[in-house]
Amino acid sequence: MIRKSWHEKVAYQIYPKSFCDSNGDGVGDLRGVIRKLDYLKGLGVDIVWLSPIYCSPLADQGYDISDYYSIDPLFGTMEDMDELLAQAKRRDISIVMDLVVNHCSDEHEWFQKACADPDGRYGKFFYIRDWKEGDPLPCNWRSYFGGPCWEKLPGHEDKIYFHAFHKKQPDLNWENPDLREEVYKMVNWWLDKGLGGFRLDAIINIKKLLPFRDFPADREDGLCSIDLMLEQANGIGQFLGEMRDRTFAPHNAFTVGEVFNEKPEEIPDFIGDNGYFSSMFDFAETILNRSIKGWYDQAPVTAEQYKAACFQSQKKTAGIGFLSNLIENHDESRGVCRYIPEEDLSLTSKKMLAGLYFMLRGLPWIYQGQELGMENPVVQDVSQVNDISALDQYQVALDAGLSPAQALKSIQMHCRDNARTPFQWDDSPNAGFTDGTPWLPVNPNYKTLNLAAQLDDEDSVYNWYRQLIQLRKDPVWKETVVYGELIPYLAEQKNLMAYYRKGEKTLLVAGNFQRQPQTMALPAPAGEVLLNNLDSFRVEDGQLYLEGYQFVVFSLEEK
Ligand code: GLC
Repeated sequence: MIRKSWHEKVAYQIYPKSFCDSNGDGVGDLRGVIRKLDYLKGLGVDIVWLSPIYCSPLADQGYDISDYYSIDPLFGTMEDMDELLAQAKRRDISIVMDLVVNHCSDEHEWFQKACADPDGRYGKFFYIRDWKEGDPLPCNWRSYFGGPCWEKLPGHEDKIYFHAFHKKQPDLNWENPDLREEVYKMVNWWLDKGLGGFRLDAIINIKKLLPFRDFPADREDGLCSIDLMLEQANGIGQFLGEMRDRTFAPHNAFTVGEVFNEKPEEIPDFIGDNGYFSSMFDFAETILNRSIKGWYDQAPVTAEQYKAACFQSQKKTAGIGFLSNLIENHDESRGVCRYIPEEDLSLTSKKMLAGLYFMLRGLPWIYQGQELGMENPVVQDVSQVNDISALDQYQVALDAGLSPAQALKSIQMHCRDNARTPFQWDDSPNAGFTDGTPWLPVNPNYKTLNLAAQLDDEDSVYNWYRQLIQLRKDPVWKETVVYGELIPYLAEQKNLMAYYRKGEKTLLVAGNFQRQPQTMALPAPAGEVLLNNLDSFRVEDGQLYLEGYQFVVFSLEEK
């Protein structure tokens, strides 16, 4: 595996709408991000991914782009963006934007022109089919946000268009070389401007199984999950390889793919030495226990499942490339709420989870607020839910016979608002996020859980993340932490997640993923303890005694 300079880095995701509001309109913006660059530098961040800030009607919070070349006034101006790029560069931080090209907004000029002339140039940018009332749809795939993937083309009674996500997000037709050229032109325009790279949104969806066809229905609605077609849609590599060669490679850009449903044999093509992307997110833990029925049927993740998923991903990519490791993002629950049982949520368990994923081989990502141990807010009433996917899943739960109270409870864990509440800077009104009314209410726990309270507290989650980052960058340990081989240790021992990192030196990483203490046999005498989320480090007769949720990283004395 060829070594790349970004391998040593630490990456951070900003959800601009909820990060920092500089002008009091209740919405975070680019000037807010600029204001916090020193904070990010202080944390030790090198790469920052900004969720979409392009012009958008915000049907899906900016993942519905109406102009790829402009900044939405809600977030600022192109001058602000240029300043952000320059200021970040000065601090050696590279900025990565979202590349959302599986679909655009129905308010994008391309779609408007397609509606005006479906047989013209822009009609071919989308999947438009003839259809009349009473006809079956071209396929019975269910859109990710509910309902069929087909919608009437505005202005045409006899035509429909395809959308894998919201109806305001028409899918772009990647089979059309003309469309691909437009995408590459836009990508190069941004990279020429000095952008560091892209996070590739929903990229696996750009290849459809054509011609459209039905699959067996998996719910009462007669529709089926899009995953079924993704399993059979071959040939995405042609598009991705072309995009890499025409855009990312000549610019030496950093790219990270939002890749679900990848086929194991394709991993080298995706993130190998000359892969389509630099890296891709590891969603193996995120998708644990997903149910075809919906969120209401999704069981909590156990420690054993979490461990197995991490080790499996590591095994699949060992020697090939670097995964991007995460515990949360703007689409997910806060990791500490997802992977730690509610009754066990504590400073210690939060630090354990942080340590376990951060020390995996790959590029560690921190989602804004994760470094404070931010938690999911309680969903009080469905009228307060903003997330379109949670609203759909609420209905799915009701349709399955759950009571309104049960349905509300069922969306609590996966509601995308969970990670989208404003960043908790301090204990002033609205957590110091805005002087106005925040677009999404601040989690009421901000009075005690906020950055200001954690900055000078040595024991805080924030300072724990700083230690993790410092270890990754420590000249003595870096080689091992970044490149050391990951070998599971005592994988069969229940609720113990332990692994070696073997490189120049040998490290052992261990987390006791339960409330009860347990002991772990040491394979060799322990050397230097590099990280410990508690004070004690007790070894007796070759056994390390671990308190509940204790996490340690230590070197092993070479024999
Ligand atoms: C990705 C984004 C998500 C968005 C979807 C459609 O999964 O992360 O937020 O809704 O794509 O663009």
